[in-house]
Amino acid sequence: MLIKLCPFPEDALPAIVGWRSDSDVNRYIRRGHRTLTEISEWYRDYFSASVNRLMAVYREAELIGYCTIEKMDVEERNCEVGLLIGAKKYWRQGIGGAALRELLRIVFADFRMHRVEARIHADNVASISCFSRAGFRLEGRLRDAKSKDGSYVDLLLYSILEGEWAGLPGIRTNEPKQSSDSTASVGTSAAGQPRAPASAASHL
Ligand SMILES: CC(C)(COP(=O)(O)OP(=O)(O)OC[C@H]1O[C@@H](n2cnc3c(N)ncnc32)[C@H](O)[C@@H]1OP(=O)(O)O)[C@@H](O)C(=O)NCCC(=O)NCCS
Repeated sequence: MLIKLCPFPEDALPAIVGWRSDSDVNRYIRRGHRTLTEISEWYRDYFSASVNRLMAVYREAELIGYCTIEKMDVEERNCEVGLLIGAKKYWRQGIGGAALRELLRIVFADFRMHRVEARIHADNVASISCFSRAGFRLEGRLRDAKSKDGSYVDLLLYSILEGEWAGLPGIRTNEPKQSSDSTASVGTSAAGQPRAPASAASHL
């Protein structure tokens, strides 16, 4: 089964409304944008900047979630990423991990980032597990960094450096660019480590 990432199509924004309205999906994410108007503005304003990218996650031909690449600093070569698999029926099948591995290939191989951060709600076991499995390392706890439902919660700061990513099993750092879309296979190697993307690298 292939997991594909590509620029998020504007006509599919209603899918984000549905996912972000689901209490299971949005439990550990910022309230942020939920209505179609808010999400459309977010898309046209925030993601019109070249330093921020909104990517769609496809399972075969089905749109199942999105990834974000934010605040890309081309001087310091760092950015922040996020991941949401909105179709809950696909949770815990390795799809989040496959999407994250492909996202890392894009930020390191295509966008030439050196450091990638993720900020994760301290209770978000699924996300902590997913990002740790993909090679992210815990850097610290940001105390009371976010307010949610009237109280403050801690965020965990995770990061991965380009050398750590390049050292993961199966990673090829000099693949030729071939298409406008990008794919990865679901699964892990026999050693339980992240598996390399199935296809050649691409630009987004
Ligand atoms: C976090 C999220 C992307 C994980 O997606 P997923 O497709 O279920 O992830 P995977 O199947 O690749 O699982 C990756 C690891 O996390 C573990 N995991 C997933 N959900 C889990 C849960 N609820 N409890 C404990 N572990 C969990 C898996 O077992 C797997 O670890 P393993 O390989 O050691 O078994 C998904 O739950 C999601 O989109 N949640 C809502 C949005 C969100 O919170 N995003 C994160 C913002 S930082």
